[in-house]
Amino acid sequence: MTQTTNGINGNGHSASTDLLDTPSAYTQKSNKTHTSIDLRSDTVTVPSLEMRQAMAEAIVGDDVYGEDTTTVRLEQRCAELFGKEAGLFVASGTMGNLLAIMAHCQRGEEIIVGRYNHIHRWEQGNYAQLAGISATTLEVKPDGTMDLDDIEQAIRVQGGYIQIYDESSDTEVTSIPDCHMPASKLICIENTHNYTGGKALPIDWMRSVKMLAERRSLKVHMDGARIYNAAISCNTTVKQIASFADTVQMCFSKGLGAPVGSILVGPKAFIDKARHSRKALGGGWRQSGVLAAAAHVALDHAEATIKADHERAKKLSKMINEATPEALRTKVYAKENDITNMVLIHCENGVSVQQLTDFFQKHDILAMTFDARRIRMVLNWNVNDENLDTIVEVYKKFVAQL
Ligand SMILES: Cc1ncc(COP(=O)(O)O)c(C=O)c1O
Repeated sequence: MTQTTNGINGNGHSASTDLLDTPSAYTQKSNKTHTSIDLRSDTVTVPSLEMRQAMAEAIVGDDVYGEDTTTVRLEQRCAELFGKEAGLFVASGTMGNLLAIMAHCQRGEEIIVGRYNHIHRWEQGNYAQLAGISATTLEVKPDGTMDLDDIEQAIRVQGGYIQIYDESSDTEVTSIPDCHMPASKLICIENTHNYTGGKALPIDWMRSVKMLAERRSLKVHMDGARIYNAAISCNTTVKQIASFADTVQMCFSKGLGAPVGSILVGPKAFIDKARHSRKALGGGWRQSGVLAAAAHVALDHAEATIKADHERAKKLSKMINEATPEALRTKVYAKENDITNMVLIHCENGVSVQQLTDFFQKHDILAMTFDARRIRMVLNWNVNDENLDTIVEVYKKFVAQL
């Protein structure tokens, strides 16, 4: 079913199981100390000594003039890594996604996006606010995918015409001129999918979305903020994951651990357009090599870093479930299947997320209230095995006093 509005039922529950429409506390005050174990996000890491050294020694120039060789090398390296023609280093994932939408769509055109995708739910509707582009939002399933029929039905006008398809032969039978609707241009997917708990999108689903888009002359943009997590989870390469999208945005500042920056990759003409718009958004860098140098180090260690986070996430969710007394297992539990770097602790039937996050906080462990029923703990390279033991000891104290 296509949804252009929220589709929320009276309880704030969406049609997808697990996912709620309650607010996430992304910018919750935390009283972080230097001893805190910080699991609110994979964005909280501090740069390694190796990164800091690379930053100090980076060869830099004015990037607006194309003279920052460290940045230029990073863009070329990523283009190759993702199997695309060109790359653009940008300040953030939000900027990369917005530039992608602006380069794919004109004002008055439309994207198709999951209503729980970061692009729609956590980027202030910037595509509308700043670029005059609208969205049809679709239900997101617990695995981070959208229904293929929903996507197909959401496609509206192309070139001023509504295409009528014969479902049995899947061929266009006629097209009718229509001036009421925006032209659909872009399908936005997210991999891994943050709000579903860092789920890696199934390869077959991505392939089907790409084929659908090609058949209907649309493009696919992947918000691959955590594409490395997807690749590791699917036991494949980022190049293969990226092959199911025309353009991809990836963050260096999440699990990869760099302090700042994202990469946008795609065809050269697309990147040229995005580079032009980046300047209008105030994103033209000068000596950006100091940041690109940290991103290079992040890439050097990407696989090992992400693998370690995934292993610890699996371990932590298992340890939490093992530490939960039998009688409480319907009230507090961690999902153990299809985990990447996020552990979601569900609190139900009289145990509230606030109780548990406050308890953790009192013991210097920071977690995020994800929605009314879930707490998110994101493994990151600042969290070690000893920290896992501490987290579980505190958790045991929590369940003991319930
Ligand atoms: C899936 C996803 N996309 C995009 C972003 C935006 O990245 P940034 O915070 O660098 O703007 C985030 C940030 O959490 C994210 O989780």
